Amino acid sequence: MSGTHEKIEKNVGLMAVLIAVAVSFGGLAEIIPLMFQAEAIEPLPGVVPRPALELAGNDIYVREGCYNCHSQMVRTLRFETERYGHYSLAGESVYDRPHQWGSKRTGPDLARVGGRYSDDWHRAHLTDPRSVVPESNMPGYGWMAERFVDGDTIARHMRARRKLGEPYTDEDIAGAAKAVEGASEMDALIAYLQGLGRHAPLGN
Ligand code: HEC
Repeated sequence: MSGTHEKIEKNVGLMAVLIAVAVSFGGLAEIIPLMFQAEAIEPLPGVVPRPALELAGNDIYVREGCYNCHSQMVRTLRFETERYGHYSLAGESVYDRPHQWGSKRTGPDLARVGGRYSDDWHRAHLTDPRSVVPESNMPGYGWMAERFVDGDTIARHMRARRKLGEPYTDEDIAGAAKAVEGASEMDALIAYLQGLGRHAPLGN
């Protein structure tokens, strides 16, 4: 036994290989259960795939890179939950594709922003952030009021997501074009923002 020990200690290559094997057990024990857990995560009660207008807003949020300045994940720290509300749970973002958790916070976290302000506030803020928050360095997006959402694109997007397992119904998809008819990109983005955190657990 001590002979084996000595052999390993005196052979750097062998020792490196054995260390890697020993460490990888630790890694595997942590990683493999997570792979199965991720598939087992159930949506929280009330969390359903985004309605057409909100989905259009989600696309605009991603397209404009709002995530470069805003996270959507409240951490489990007291100063975070006191500011934003209940910490984020995986079951809230099962239909976020790609997820928008992020960590860059030039602006505040948006995971709980739904319902915090009126639609009119958002409209004023998105058009000219400094009109409502004088010290803001957020860019204005007033031009979104003059661009319109394309119903066919959204219906196709919903169909693609259904292939990935999101439970959109035929009616959801058939009604998509009507649901976004006449909506500007700003309307869609506001609908999306107002939906954020809607099904979050209450309290801290
Ligand atoms: C350059 C960084 C930057 C970008 C890009 C940016 N924001 Fe902001 N945002 C901020 C800052 C800073 C604030 C805080 C000041 C304010 O309210 O304007 C803010 C505030 C907000 C608020 C109010 C949050 C609250 O709780 O008061 C919302 C909503 C918001 N942003 C949405 C968006 C959306 C949607 C986009 C993309 C279209 C976007 N932001 C892009 C920096 C940014």
